[in-house]
Amino acid sequence: MQHDSIAVVDFGGQYAHLIATKVRRQNVLAEILQPEDPVEKFKPHKGIILSGNPSLSSFGEDSDYNKEMFDLDVPILGFCFGHQEIAKHYGGAVMNGKQEFGRAQLHIRREHPLFKGLSRSEQVWMSHNDTVTAIGPDFEELGYTLLGEGSEPHNFAAIGSDKHRRYGFQFHPEVDNTTHGDVMIRNFAIEICGCRPTWEMAQYLEEEIEKIRERVGDGSVFLLASGGVDSTVAAKLFGEALRPEQLHLLHVDNGLMRKDESLQVMKAFKAMGIDSNLHFVDASEDFLSALNGLVEPEQKRKAIGDTFVKVFEREARRLGLSNHLLGQGTIYPDTIETGGTKRADTIKTHHNRVEIIEKMIAAGKVIEPLAELYKVEVRELGEELNIPSEMIWRQPFPGPGLGVRLLCSSGELEDSASIPAISDEVTKTLAGTNFCGAALPVKSVGVKGDLRSYEHPVLIHGNTNWNKLDEIAGTVLKTVRGINRCIWNLAPKMPQTFRPLAASTTRERLDLLREADHIVMQGLRRHGLERDIWQCPTVLLPLEIDGQGEELCIIRPIHSERAMTATAAELPEQLIGEIRDAILALPKISGLAYDITSKPPGTIEWE
Ligand code: XMP
Repeated sequence: MQHDSIAVVDFGGQYAHLIATKVRRQNVLAEILQPEDPVEKFKPHKGIILSGNPSLSSFGEDSDYNKEMFDLDVPILGFCFGHQEIAKHYGGAVMNGKQEFGRAQLHIRREHPLFKGLSRSEQVWMSHNDTVTAIGPDFEELGYTLLGEGSEPHNFAAIGSDKHRRYGFQFHPEVDNTTHGDVMIRNFAIEICGCRPTWEMAQYLEEEIEKIRERVGDGSVFLLASGGVDSTVAAKLFGEALRPEQLHLLHVDNGLMRKDESLQVMKAFKAMGIDSNLHFVDASEDFLSALNGLVEPEQKRKAIGDTFVKVFEREARRLGLSNHLLGQGTIYPDTIETGGTKRADTIKTHHNRVEIIEKMIAAGKVIEPLAELYKVEVRELGEELNIPSEMIWRQPFPGPGLGVRLLCSSGELEDSASIPAISDEVTKTLAGTNFCGAALPVKSVGVKGDLRSYEHPVLIHGNTNWNKLDEIAGTVLKTVRGINRCIWNLAPKMPQTFRPLAASTTRERLDLLREADHIVMQGLRRHGLERDIWQCPTVLLPLEIDGQGEELCIIRPIHSERAMTATAAELPEQLIGEIRDAILALPKISGLAYDITSKPPGTIEWE
């Protein structure tokens, strides 16, 4: 069946993903396109949504994209920047200024299909710098906003032209703070564009099984099955579509797995009955030698991705497989996050999008049945496939595994001179609280706007309740320049000296991280929090503290929905105490801290 779909134009800032998921929640397929894409790519879609991004401006090069999409005879709806672009394109005007941030009340002028089912006053979320000040001849104001009682109205918050079928919202209907944003999105897709809401998991499953059979024919699929949610769902899906002899699963112990992980994965696959050609290889030596001496996160990721392919090819030869397709559990965001558009910096290279894989994809050698799905949808598909819920609801674990949680260092820091000044700023910011803090001579990856940031964490020490702690972290991160993380000291005293140590990826360090991670994961399980906490990386930093130990351990429990944004999660005091006692008792551990940074500015992983 051909599904009706909406094209979501990605103007950066990852808003497009959020919009696409919200469209799909309405059972309408959404696909992300780039502003520079040729107009042919837009033609199969029944409507277009232009995403917004408060850091873009309708003045200058952001407005330089393929405008031929405006010539298509399909409805177009713009949010924020997209709204301003529509106003401008059809004879309106935009000015720089009159910013609004936060909640506002949208007053709807008249009944309109876009607002079907809503009241005349709706809470919406504003975040913009530029503002529409005039609209073109065929346009009308559909709504204006008030930020609060007695405030001046903000005109043209919603505009539209039924003649051109072009609409714009200054606010962001895709965020949860716009209370009925989902209704507005549904109204656009279904009422205005006429999309049939046919995108459902049961149907998708049937279609995907057909597609797999067609594509594989009499050939076979060789899938790397890590045991994570995505590859497990992919394995079961291939299992349904293909004859047992057509599917080979390979579980690679890359040495970067959690404690006893490989054993459990093999057991789980057996229990699910997809084990007729289940192979196992211990390739930890290959991965360790590829990672030896590497310090830079992107180089490590590439080395891991390349080694996967090398091991995979070697195993295929060993098993006498030829003419097979490489199966991957790649999901939709993985194909987009590697970046490459002029508005989006490479946030990270996904391990299944390294160069060799890209070449294999181009040669038609790769099959990725989940590449159109978001994580929630993969889980839904898993349920449709009757995969046990403890497999489906496992916390996500990155493909490069503990490799991105074991930070490496040359032992020297090119900007070590800036540390005292940053620490001074931290001290000033914390004045008046009972907290103290210092910048650490290491760096981790974060994200600011669409750019990767590679900056220092700040360690703070003190005691207060969670809300206050969260507030302090927010203030420090907003005020102090040159940092992207705030971590809270869990050791009894505030350390006085910090020294970066030269360290790369070794089995010994990985074993230590495995133990620390095991302590944290067991603790979450004991307290029944495994599903409540979306993800909880445990990280090691090669850092000597107060002349002792070799590794600073960080725990990072977070809440998130789609991993695009995240907030630090509060753990019960008793669990923190148990983790503290067990981790600080491990050999070579020099300290323990709790990452209380939201994303942005910190990413979920430290690399
Ligand atoms: P960040 O650190 O970018 O992570 O906030 C977002 C989500 O992606 C996971 N992640 C990865 N998953 N390969 C993966 O399969 C990777 O290279 C990778 N890097 C990050 C991360 O665990 C989180 O869930």
